[in-house]
This record gives sequence, structure tokens and C-alpha cells, in this order.
Amino acid sequence: MTRRETGAAGATGAGERRKAAAPNGIGAAARRSLLRWFAVAQRDLPWRRPERANDTYAVWVSEVMLQQTRVAAAEAYYLRFLARYPRLADLARAKEAEVLALWSGLGYYRRPRQMLRAARAVLAAGGRELPEGFNELLALPGFGRYTAGAVLSIARQQRHPAVDGNIRRVLSRLAGRALTNAEAEAANRAWLDEHRPGDSNQALMELGATVCAPRAPRCGECPIRRYCRDRGRAGAALTARPRRAPERRQESYWLAIHGGRVRLRRRPATAAIMPGLWELPQRRAAVSGERRLGQVRHAITYRQIAASVYAPPDGLPPPAGQWRSKAECAALALTGLTKKILRRFAAGEQA
Ligand code: ADE
Repeated sequence: MTRRETGAAGATGAGERRKAAAPNGIGAAARRSLLRWFAVAQRDLPWRRPERANDTYAVWVSEVMLQQTRVAAAEAYYLRFLARYPRLADLARAKEAEVLALWSGLGYYRRPRQMLRAARAVLAAGGRELPEGFNELLALPGFGRYTAGAVLSIARQQRHPAVDGNIRRVLSRLAGRALTNAEAEAANRAWLDEHRPGDSNQALMELGATVCAPRAPRCGECPIRRYCRDRGRAGAALTARPRRAPERRQESYWLAIHGGRVRLRRRPATAAIMPGLWELPQRRAAVSGERRLGQVRHAITYRQIAASVYAPPDGLPPPAGQWRSKAECAALALTGLTKKILRRFAAGEQA
């Protein structure tokens, strides 16, 4: 799922607060049904715990991680991140390489870089916490309408929409047609409970993630099906974005291990993707005496990589790079594929 963030301003005014009726006549009863369902059906997720749910920083971390990352994959990263950087000021003081190392495997490394810049900007301006104005948040690196709306509605109960892929799909199905960005925001605004807008947003997200699924919605379990124009009729067709055709790639890497250390190289700082991250040296040609260890499959956005892994023969100069111990590897920003290869093969090679 991809969220597009746009930078334009758009805070909720008092006037909008009063006329809270959705385009298809949705009213208080529908909102109550959704919130009642959310109260019992919501998943127990770490960012929903009472000690974090009202913390703008903790909610921000979760919302950035959940962009382009599934809940199941994000949970462990979220807990590690908050354990290392419990407060915004801790993040602001961190080294970028260390933040990237903690993020390693989540992908889309622009996200942590921008978080770091935003945290530093807040501290440089004399703040200790994220600002609580929609437009002030939009002015920070990495914040778009979605992130600002999600943080302020969830952590501060401000009435802002937060249209992500799930909310867009739910609202489009309710309306019976694919909504534009502006229409989805207007419809989202109309769903916001006066006192619990954060729960309204999370309930719509949760419904999209667990019931109103993209391909096979489970309308029988939906608490607001009676308000829905589509009821699963259009299937995925209503809101599916055209997907880029997958690009299949064959790659080949050296896993050179010597004295418990592995040979790694750093991607150039100017690389178009994953700049500055560490990876295994690429194997550009076969070498006599090499051993094939196996293959690892890895997906990055639309690229599907089949990576073959080889151990170089003894006695040859090592491939370009640096030797790194296991402890050093744990503190480096490795690419997700490198992590996977090390998990799969490094123990066997060291034995
Ligand atoms: N996806 C984006 N934000 C989310 C949240 N707060 N809970 C669950 N899934 C989400």
C-alpha cells in the first residue's frame, strides 16, 4: 500500500465540525456502530497501549513505520525503536547510521532519514515535542496530510481526516465509487466522532485492514454494511490502483567469512536506492573453486530478486569491502536482502 502525501494546508474549522454528514447521508448511528465494533474487534497493537496512544512522538513513529509496511512486520521494529529512542529528543541526538541500522529491513529508508531531520528541526527551534498545529506539522520534513492528520487525531483528539489506502477503500465502497483524494478527505471528516476522532480514524483503518479487504471483503462481518452502496460487488475493481508489472532480477553475491568476520561493502552515498547501506559484495563472474550455498528470494517494491549466494575459494584475495564482526553487523544499516542472506547462511559458513 502506498500513501501519497501532499503538502497543502487544511485544518478542520469549527464550521466543518458542525456539518458532519457524509455524502451518502451517514450519520451518528453509523459512526456509533463503527466505534462499538472497534472497541471490541481492534487488534492489540503496541502503539494503541494507553502509555503510547496519547504520545505524539510514539504515534508518529508508528504511523511512519506503517506507511508501506505491514502491521505484523512493523510491531517488533516499533518496540525496538522506542526502546532505543524513547523521546523525540533521544531521536534528535542519534547518529543517522545508528537510526538506519535500527530501521534495516523495513525498507524505504527515506522515512527514518526524514524523521531524524524533523526531530532535529523541532529541537533546533527550541521544542521538546512535536508541534500540535496541523500546518506546523506539515512544515516538518516527511510530514504530509496523512501523517499530520493521523498523529493529531490519534494522540491529540483533533478532528483531522487521515486518508490512507484502507480508509480510501472503505469510504469508496460506502459511496459506491472510487473517491478522489479531496472526496475521500471530506467523507473521512464526516466520519469523525466529535470526542474520539482518533478512534474514528483507527476504526476505519482497522475495518479496511481486517474486514473490508481489497480482494475479498467479508461483508458478513462488517458493522456498517447497511450503509454501504457497494457491499463487495465491485471486488477489487473499485479502488485497485494499477500496479507496476513485477521486474524479476537475478543477482549474485559473495559470502566471504574469515575468522568470524564477514566481508561487506557500503553502497555509495549517491546510489538511487538504499544509499549508504551495507551489503555483501556482488559476484560479477564465476571463479574456479567457488561453492554455491543456495538462493534467497527477496522483494523490494516491484522488484523480485532471486539472489544466488556463493562462498569464494580459499586463498583468493577477498572481494572489495571491509571485514565486519557479527557484533559490528548488528549495528550496521544492512540491506534487507543482506540480513536475510546472513540469517540463512552465515552460521553454517562460520561453523
Ligand atoms: N495503519 C496505519 N495506521 C494504523 C494504525 N494506527 N493502526 C493500524 N493500522 C494502521
